[in-house]
Amino acid sequence: MLLEGSYTLRSLQPFDASPLARYFDGLSDATRRRFKPHPLDHQTAASLCERSLAGELRYVVIWGKQIIGYFVLDSHSSQHEAARFLSHGIALQDGVDFLFAPSIADAWQGRGVASLSMPALLQFARVAGARSLVLMGGTQATNVAAIAFYEKLGFQRYGGYYTDMFNHDMRLCLEPV
Ligand SMILES: CC(C)(COP(=O)(O)OP(=O)(O)OC[C@H]1O[C@@H](n2cnc3c(N)ncnc32)[C@H](O)[C@@H]1OP(=O)(O)O)[C@@H](O)C(=O)NCCC(=O)NCCS
Repeated sequence: MLLEGSYTLRSLQPFDASPLARYFDGLSDATRRRFKPHPLDHQTAASLCERSLAGELRYVVIWGKQIIGYFVLDSHSSQHEAARFLSHGIALQDGVDFLFAPSIADAWQGRGVASLSMPALLQFARVAGARSLVLMGGTQATNVAAIAFYEKLGFQRYGGYYTDMFNHDMRLCLEPV
């Protein structure tokens, strides 16, 4: 899907292993510390591109020949998120409450790439059967940019939990297709 100008959003493909590894390598420590779903290294890039597991949706934003953004949408439930949301009275369900994690290359952050990608990503999630998106691991309370981004999209806060700092749990309920 063409986003605007020369940006394209598409699902991750087997041939993306090298550009994805370059994308992971190029991320700053600050961005790495914010992104929790999996390690950001060559081995992980290769295994993500090799396997295609039902319910694990992964998208990349392409600019020229480079990957400049990477998004995870996972329909599988996680015990961690399920337990935290249950304590707020929300029973997350496997297959409909998708876990979500975004990342954008440092040089491209704050330039509208994630905002441009979201309408299509939300539509992909809806078509795959999602009724909500839940942040994978929540978002660190110090991650001002991400919190503003999520709130702009309509994500709501549902308490949170402590690691070495406070993390907000956030969820976006989706309109049916
Ligand atoms: C969070 C992230 C995915 C947002 O993507 P992005 O492409 O930089 O976001 P956009 O440029 O589309 O901005 C969207 C909104 O985010 C907020 N935002 C972005 N950068 C911001 C900043 N530096 N300070 C405050 N708000 C900011 C604004 O609300 C902005 O909307 P606006 O431009 O209408 O004001 C990206 O910054 C990122 O990858 N950060 C590092 C990894 C990370 O934190 N992942 C999320 C873990 S929970």
